[in-house]
Amino acid sequence: MPIDYVLLTAGQIQVRVRELAADLERNAREPIHLVGVLKGAFVFLADLVRAMEGPVTVDFLAAASYRSGTVSSGEVELVRDLDATVTGRDVVLVEDIVDTGLTLQVLQQVVRSRAPRSLRTVTLLDKPSRRQVPVDVDCVGFTIPDCFVVGYGLDFDERYRNLPDIRVLTP
Ligand code: IMP
Repeated sequence: MPIDYVLLTAGQIQVRVRELAADLERNAREPIHLVGVLKGAFVFLADLVRAMEGPVTVDFLAAASYRSGTVSSGEVELVRDLDATVTGRDVVLVEDIVDTGLTLQVLQQVVRSRAPRSLRTVTLLDKPSRRQVPVDVDCVGFTIPDCFVVGYGLDFDERYRNLPDIRVLTP
Protein backbone atom coordinates (compact mmCIF):
# COMPACT_ATOMS: atom_id res chain seq x y z
CA MET A 1 0.00 0.00 0.00
CA PRO A 2 1.51 3.36 -0.92
CA ILE A 3 1.83 6.18 1.57
CA ASP A 4 -0.53 8.90 0.52
CA TYR A 5 -0.09 12.04 2.63
CA VAL A 6 0.98 13.36 6.01
CA LEU A 7 -2.02 13.65 8.34
CA LEU A 8 -0.20 14.90 11.45
CA THR A 9 3.29 16.38 11.46
CA ALA A 10 5.90 15.56 14.10
CA GLY A 11 5.57 19.12 15.39
CA GLN A 12 1.79 18.89 15.81
CA ILE A 13 2.18 15.58 17.64
CA GLN A 14 4.79 16.95 20.05
CA VAL A 15 2.62 19.93 21.00
CA ARG A 16 -0.41 17.70 21.65
CA VAL A 17 1.59 15.11 23.61
CA ARG A 18 2.74 17.84 26.03
CA GLU A 19 -0.88 18.94 26.50
CA LEU A 20 -1.98 15.36 27.18
CA ALA A 21 0.81 14.90 29.73
CA ALA A 22 -0.30 18.07 31.53
CA ASP A 23 -3.96 16.91 31.50
CA LEU A 24 -3.04 13.54 32.99
CA GLU A 25 -0.92 15.11 35.71
CA ARG A 26 -3.44 17.76 36.70
CA ASN A 27 -4.62 17.10 40.26
CA ALA A 28 -2.61 13.84 40.49
CA ARG A 29 -1.63 13.25 44.12
CA GLU A 30 -0.14 9.77 43.84
CA PRO A 31 2.37 8.38 41.32
CA ILE A 32 0.79 7.66 37.94
CA HIS A 33 1.26 4.12 36.67
CA LEU A 34 1.41 4.21 32.87
CA VAL A 35 0.55 0.96 31.09
CA GLY A 36 1.54 1.06 27.43
CA VAL A 37 -0.17 -1.19 24.92
CA LEU A 38 2.47 -2.82 22.74
CA LYS A 39 3.60 -2.49 20.16
CA GLY A 40 1.91 0.55 18.66
CA ALA A 41 2.02 2.81 21.73
CA PHE A 42 5.75 2.54 22.43
CA VAL A 43 6.71 5.80 20.69
CA PHE A 44 3.77 7.74 22.15
CA LEU A 45 4.49 6.44 25.65
CA ALA A 46 8.18 7.35 25.33
CA ASP A 47 7.31 10.96 24.50
CA LEU A 48 4.42 11.15 26.99
CA VAL A 49 6.49 9.95 29.94
CA ARG A 50 9.25 12.47 29.20
CA ALA A 51 6.69 15.27 29.14
CA MET A 52 5.49 14.35 32.65
CA GLU A 53 7.05 15.99 35.67
CA GLY A 54 5.61 14.11 38.63
CA PRO A 55 6.41 10.59 39.79
CA VAL A 56 5.48 7.97 37.20
CA THR A 57 6.03 4.26 36.77
CA VAL A 58 5.77 2.34 33.52
CA ASP A 59 4.64 -1.14 32.53
CA PHE A 60 3.47 -2.74 29.29
CA LEU A 61 1.01 -5.27 28.07
CA ALA A 62 0.41 -6.55 24.58
CA ALA A 63 -2.74 -7.54 22.79
CA ALA A 64 -3.04 -9.29 19.48
CA SER A 65 -6.05 -8.05 17.59
CA TYR A 66 -6.28 -10.26 14.60
CA ARG A 67 -6.62 -8.32 11.39
CA SER A 68 -6.79 -9.23 7.78
CA GLY A 69 -4.93 -6.40 6.09
CA THR A 70 -6.31 -3.25 7.65
CA VAL A 71 -9.60 -4.71 8.96
CA SER A 72 -10.10 -6.08 12.48
CA SER A 73 -11.50 -9.60 12.81
CA GLY A 74 -12.88 -8.82 16.25
CA GLU A 75 -10.77 -11.40 18.13
CA VAL A 76 -8.50 -9.99 20.81
CA GLU A 77 -5.99 -11.94 22.88
CA LEU A 78 -3.72 -10.79 25.71
CA VAL A 79 -0.27 -11.92 24.56
CA ARG A 80 1.91 -10.19 27.15
CA ASP A 81 0.77 -9.59 30.70
CA LEU A 82 1.88 -6.88 33.13
CA ASP A 83 5.07 -7.28 35.17
CA ALA A 84 3.79 -5.44 38.24
CA THR A 85 0.52 -5.43 40.12
CA VAL A 86 -1.92 -2.61 39.42
CA THR A 87 -3.99 -3.19 42.54
CA GLY A 88 -4.53 0.06 44.43
CA ARG A 89 -2.65 2.15 41.87
CA ASP A 90 -3.70 5.07 39.68
CA VAL A 91 -3.41 3.46 36.27
CA VAL A 92 -3.41 5.14 32.88
CA LEU A 93 -3.73 2.84 29.87
CA VAL A 94 -1.76 4.31 26.98
CA GLU A 95 -3.07 3.35 23.53
CA ASP A 96 -1.90 4.34 20.09
CA ILE A 97 -5.30 4.28 18.39
CA VAL A 98 -8.86 3.28 19.17
CA ASP A 99 -10.58 1.91 16.10
CA THR A 100 -13.42 -0.62 16.66
CA GLY A 101 -12.81 -0.36 20.43
CA LEU A 102 -12.58 -4.16 20.77
CA THR A 103 -8.94 -4.20 21.92
CA LEU A 104 -9.43 -1.44 24.46
CA GLN A 105 -12.61 -3.04 25.79
CA VAL A 106 -10.70 -6.25 26.58
CA LEU A 107 -7.68 -4.47 28.06
CA GLN A 108 -9.81 -2.24 30.28
CA GLN A 109 -11.61 -5.35 31.57
CA VAL A 110 -8.26 -7.03 32.32
CA VAL A 111 -6.96 -4.03 34.27
CA ARG A 112 -10.26 -3.33 36.06
CA SER A 113 -10.49 -6.95 37.21
CA ARG A 114 -7.25 -6.36 39.18
CA ALA A 115 -8.71 -3.56 41.26
CA PRO A 116 -6.67 -0.45 40.48
CA ARG A 117 -7.53 2.60 42.60
CA SER A 118 -8.41 4.41 39.39
CA LEU A 119 -8.25 3.67 35.69
CA ARG A 120 -8.04 6.22 32.93
CA THR A 121 -7.29 5.74 29.24
CA VAL A 122 -5.34 8.03 26.94
CA THR A 123 -5.12 7.42 23.22
CA LEU A 124 -3.11 9.40 20.74
CA LEU A 125 -5.61 8.76 17.94
CA ASP A 126 -9.32 8.04 17.86
CA LYS A 127 -11.42 6.88 14.91
CA PRO A 128 -14.92 7.18 16.43
CA SER A 129 -16.68 6.49 13.13
CA ARG A 130 -15.37 2.89 13.25
CA ARG A 131 -16.51 2.04 16.77
CA GLN A 132 -18.23 -1.32 17.25
CA VAL A 133 -18.37 -1.32 21.05
CA PRO A 134 -18.63 1.64 23.42
CA VAL A 135 -15.45 2.36 25.40
CA ASP A 136 -14.56 5.16 27.80
CA VAL A 137 -11.56 7.19 26.69
CA ASP A 138 -10.54 10.01 29.02
CA CYS A 139 -7.99 11.82 26.86
CA VAL A 140 -7.77 11.82 23.05
CA GLY A 141 -4.85 13.35 21.18
CA PHE A 142 -6.47 13.64 17.77
CA THR A 143 -9.80 12.52 16.35
CA ILE A 144 -9.20 11.30 12.82
CA PRO A 145 -11.43 10.14 9.94
CA ASP A 146 -11.82 6.54 8.80
CA CYS A 147 -8.44 5.98 7.17
CA PHE A 148 -5.52 3.64 7.82
CA VAL A 149 -2.56 5.48 9.33
CA VAL A 150 1.08 4.59 9.98
CA GLY A 151 4.09 6.17 11.65
CA TYR A 152 4.94 7.30 15.20
CA GLY A 153 4.75 3.67 16.36
CA LEU A 154 1.84 2.57 14.18
CA ASP A 155 2.53 -0.05 11.54
CA PHE A 156 1.25 -1.77 8.48
CA ASP A 157 2.66 -5.30 8.43
CA GLU A 158 5.33 -4.19 10.97
CA ARG A 159 6.59 -1.41 8.69
CA TYR A 160 6.58 2.37 9.10
CA ARG A 161 6.71 2.46 12.93
CA ASN A 162 9.85 4.63 12.66
CA LEU A 163 8.23 7.52 10.77
CA PRO A 164 8.28 10.66 12.95
CA ASP A 165 4.92 11.84 11.62
CA ILE A 166 1.58 10.12 10.98
CA ARG A 167 0.67 9.35 7.40
CA VAL A 168 -2.30 7.86 5.59
CA LEU A 169 -1.96 4.67 3.56
CA THR A 170 -4.25 4.15 0.61
CA PRO A 171 -5.10 0.69 -0.74
P1 IMP B 1 -9.42 -1.91 17.61
O1 IMP B 1 -9.45 -3.12 18.48
O2 IMP B 1 -10.18 -2.13 16.33
O3 IMP B 1 -9.86 -0.64 18.31
O4 IMP B 1 -7.96 -1.73 17.10
C1 IMP B 1 -6.94 -1.37 17.91
C2 IMP B 1 -5.61 -1.74 17.33
O5 IMP B 1 -5.65 -1.94 15.91
C3 IMP B 1 -4.66 -0.60 17.55
O6 IMP B 1 -4.04 -0.67 18.82
C4 IMP B 1 -3.70 -0.75 16.39
O7 IMP B 1 -2.68 -1.66 16.72
C5 IMP B 1 -4.55 -1.33 15.28
N1 IMP B 1 -5.04 -0.28 14.37
C6 IMP B 1 -6.29 0.19 14.24
N2 IMP B 1 -6.36 1.16 13.30
C7 IMP B 1 -5.10 1.31 12.84
C8 IMP B 1 -4.50 2.20 11.86
O8 IMP B 1 -5.14 3.06 11.23
N3 IMP B 1 -3.16 2.04 11.68
C9 IMP B 1 -2.40 1.13 12.35
N4 IMP B 1 -2.92 0.31 13.27
C10 IMP B 1 -4.26 0.40 13.51
